[in-house]
Amino acid sequence: MISKETIERIRDTARVEEVVGEFVNLKRRGTNLLGLCPFHSEKTPSFTVSPAKGIYKCFGCGASGDAVKFIMEHEHYSYPDALKYLAKKYNIEIEEILVTPEYQEEQNLKESLYAVNQFAEQFFIDQLWKDPKGQAIGLSYFHERGFSDEIIKKFRLGYAQDDWTHFTMAAQQHGYKLEYLKAVGLTSSGEKNVDVYRGRVMFPIHNITGRVLGFGGRTLKVDKSTPKYINSPESEIYNKSKILYGLFFAKSAIIKEDNCYLVEGYTDVISLHQAGIENVVASSGTSLTEGQIQLIKRYTSNITILYDGDTAGIKASFRGIDMILEAGMNVHVVLFPDGEDPDSFSRKVQHNELINFLNTNRKDFIRFKADVLLHEAGTDPIKRAGVVRDMVESIALIPDGIVRNMFIQQCASIMNIPEQTLFNELNKLRRNKLKEKHKKEGIVPADWDVMQTEPIKIAQPIQLELNTHAQEREIIRLLLNYGYHDLVYHEKNEDGDTIEFREKVYEMIIDELSMDEINFTHPIYQNIYSEFQNFCNHTHSQEAIQQFFIRHDNDEVRNLAIELIIPQYTMSKNWEERLHVFTVPEEEKLHASVVEALHQLRLRHINLMIDDEKKKLKNATDAEEIFSIMEVIKNLEVMKKKLSEELTTVIHPL
Ligand code: GTP
Ligand code: MN
Repeated sequence: MISKETIERIRDTARVEEVVGEFVNLKRRGTNLLGLCPFHSEKTPSFTVSPAKGIYKCFGCGASGDAVKFIMEHEHYSYPDALKYLAKKYNIEIEEILVTPEYQEEQNLKESLYAVNQFAEQFFIDQLWKDPKGQAIGLSYFHERGFSDEIIKKFRLGYAQDDWTHFTMAAQQHGYKLEYLKAVGLTSSGEKNVDVYRGRVMFPIHNITGRVLGFGGRTLKVDKSTPKYINSPESEIYNKSKILYGLFFAKSAIIKEDNCYLVEGYTDVISLHQAGIENVVASSGTSLTEGQIQLIKRYTSNITILYDGDTAGIKASFRGIDMILEAGMNVHVVLFPDGEDPDSFSRKVQHNELINFLNTNRKDFIRFKADVLLHEAGTDPIKRAGVVRDMVESIALIPDGIVRNMFIQQCASIMNIPEQTLFNELNKLRRNKLKEKHKKEGIVPADWDVMQTEPIKIAQPIQLELNTHAQEREIIRLLLNYGYHDLVYHEKNEDGDTIEFREKVYEMIIDELSMDEINFTHPIYQNIYSEFQNFCNHTHSQEAIQQFFIRHDNDEVRNLAIELIIPQYTMSKNWEERLHVFTVPEEEKLHASVVEALHQLRLRHINLMIDDEKKKLKNATDAEEIFSIMEVIKNLEVMKKKLSEELTTVIHPL
């Protein structure tokens, strides 16, 4: 570990303007320096460096910090790596303080493995360029593939001789221990110490600071029995789920373009680079992992997946892409023409044409998925319903409510179904997911970002007596006053175990009403309810939602909201003071209030249905019809009775 004294020396010595000045063209402006921000793209400079304070700040994107932070952010270095970088720049000797023997041993092992790989990388490069066989076989293969010398050198490609011990012997002669050669998978782990890569072109795999973690070796034989690629195994230094091929070469372009292209293999990455597209990485044949997504997310929140036209492969990738959506990233896809992959296509066309192709064929993932699935479902209504569910499942994973809503609207129009149907489905899914999560972890839901949305304009309200809709009013009152309060309650599951549920008031209400498919009958309540549903997808504060309705531009909605939000308070305060009655604060009996309100609403719903049926009965003439209506009424009456009983036992237990 670097000693405190060394860290202080580095911090004291490093001049922020010198450190930043290596990457940003700075011009003096009074006591400060000004330049174009390297963390976001801009045309007029708003990136300010203050030598006096030792800090930088961008007034465009808000990035700020000192010299160490700048190197960490700009070069994506860890804290110790940034310190080492600055120490080197200012010729400061690093004093390491004592660490535990275990830590030291682990570090030593890692360093040994890095050293072996570094040697191997250079060895294979030398073979490719200097050895006659390497030139004749390896280099000419790359040339045939259309790789330029410059790109071969940039990606540090190499060649491993078609020989059993050529590499292993050389490495040992240079003092590299057999155990390390085996640990990184360059020498076979069996009894015979033979080279793993024989007669293969070598693609070194780098981490984000450019160290070699492993290799991919492609065979040059056509023999079907040899695997096309051999990849290094996992090791102390190589964790496959946290590495993306090409990221080391792509990171600055990814930041600059604010987008990362994702392709399948090594050659796709390299060919695109050669074609001038540098913001590209490969997952190397495997499906994308959570760790890889997080890696990309450090540089951009936009991923564009480049597909070759194989439908089975595309469908298989959908689950993986859901993971990217869940990480809050925007996913686009580009489908290449039949039989072409990014590698072959980029060699066929000019740079401009390629860029143009990528831009014009870029589709939003959700849209793309809907197209693919709908095409497959054809006109079969059952399959189409399945597609709807599938789509909503993907959309439900998107953490940002505004984005989610946008996709719901888009999907509704593509599939030609009402938005509300999709919203109901979506809310059901999200609530259930939350419930599951809470059951598993026993935690309160993660906060969603507070965001403002355009208020939905309310259609001409119809004058109705509000008080006849007391049950609906009560639900709205609970939402507006306590929607974001936590409910903690216990229920028994099938096994008879008591499970603790935690959810917000609004989650319970929306969940239950959508499961029962109950709609409000009064247009104002219905409108407030819909707006609330929409709004609560992207805010988590009671305060914000109250403000939204209190300032609503529809007079009736605004007045109703104010009326529902304000008086509760004063009422109970008055009661206490004047009558000296000790009332239980509503917060403390919220669960009972919510359950009661929901029951009352259901009861009212059933009553309305019964009324409806009775009206039908009056006009019915046919005996058959009369019997069937009576049957319906009978069933409704049974439900009503049950509900009333529950209402007394659940809400007012004696
Ligand atoms: P051609 O296009 O046929 O010249 O081959 P390529 O070298 O471009 O590889 P291909 O397009 O067939 O495969 C794309 C990616 O899949 C490669 O970069 C590898 O990451 C992975 N891959 C392909 N074959 C194998 C294999 O046999 N084993 C492993 N582990 N990965 C493979
Ligand atoms: Mn290929």
